[in-house]
Amino acid sequence: MSNSEGISQAEVSKSVETALAEISKASSIAELKKAKGSILGDGSALAGFSSRLGKLAADQKAEAGKIVGSARAKVTEAFESRESELSAVEEAKLLEKEAIDVTALGRIARTGARHPLSLLQEKISDVFVGMGWEIAEGPEVESEWFNFDALNFDADHPARAMQDTFFVEPTQQKLVLRTHTSPVQVRSMLDREVPIYVLCPGRVFRTDELDATHTPVFHQVEGLAIDKGLSMANLRGTLEHFARIMFGEEAKIRLRPSFFPFTEPSAELDVWHPGAKGGARWVEWGGCGMVNPNVLRASGIDPEVYSGFAFGMGIERTLMFRNEVSDMHDMVEGDVRFSAQFGMVL
Ligand code: DAH
Repeated sequence: MSNSEGISQAEVSKSVETALAEISKASSIAELKKAKGSILGDGSALAGFSSRLGKLAADQKAEAGKIVGSARAKVTEAFESRESELSAVEEAKLLEKEAIDVTALGRIARTGARHPLSLLQEKISDVFVGMGWEIAEGPEVESEWFNFDALNFDADHPARAMQDTFFVEPTQQKLVLRTHTSPVQVRSMLDREVPIYVLCPGRVFRTDELDATHTPVFHQVEGLAIDKGLSMANLRGTLEHFARIMFGEEAKIRLRPSFFPFTEPSAELDVWHPGAKGGARWVEWGGCGMVNPNVLRASGIDPEVYSGFAFGMGIERTLMFRNEVSDMHDMVEGDVRFSAQFGMVL
């Protein structure tokens, strides 16, 4: 049948049938879209009828137009209904895929825990900040002068010896990993105006092997007060207050005569505390004393006008007897199960 001839119902119906078969064969929206191109697009049989319509004689046009129009309408309708069928199926599949079983047991994401040493350090800092003291920090790689000389250590003091101190190479630089937080005392006196009330928590280093009670990297907290007329009584009162907050109202302290190059007189500080599992007892807590006049002088402070007291203790050691931690390994290994036992507040 040529283009100039009429368009027969049979001919159009055949194309429509083929189109409908193809439409119902499409099993996804994507396939249906593809089919649409070949059924209705340029070059399709239906498009062919439309262009043939234009060339028909006027008397044939109306009749053929109806045939082609209703064929198009039928095919279009078939597309639409198949499309809504397929999209319902696809949506149902998607919903099934995305379904959540709200009754299933959840997977517990383990959260981290603050380390008890950090918590304890913060608690100690809070005690002193609450009394109006300031927090001071110094470098971990420290000059020998701050770590030893300015603190009145003799050139041949045993603490300088190789077995205690990590010296930083090249040794001509005279740098060490600080062996205590006491150098921050000197730095604070040089940096600040008197009166000075500072607390210096921080990491310190000594060439100890890691075992149940030692670690080469540990933490100390240092206290320093410089003012007019300070005495051992002020030191004692401050430490007593500190001990009561750390160990409870019943806690007591005692000072035993001792020696440190940077304090004169010097004392060993013991604390009596109710204990947890260990029961009530006295334990060695730290060192303290009145700041040696030589240290004041090295820090530019006139010992005739000002006096000061200082104290220092290990934070690991404090945690050990305060919270009954018996093995230092637990503190350094970083196992969250250890930290989690302490919660977020100590
Ligand atoms: N720096 C000492 C140490 O590491 C501890 C210490 C003792 C600090 C007496 C002080 C003090 O401030 O007065 O062993």
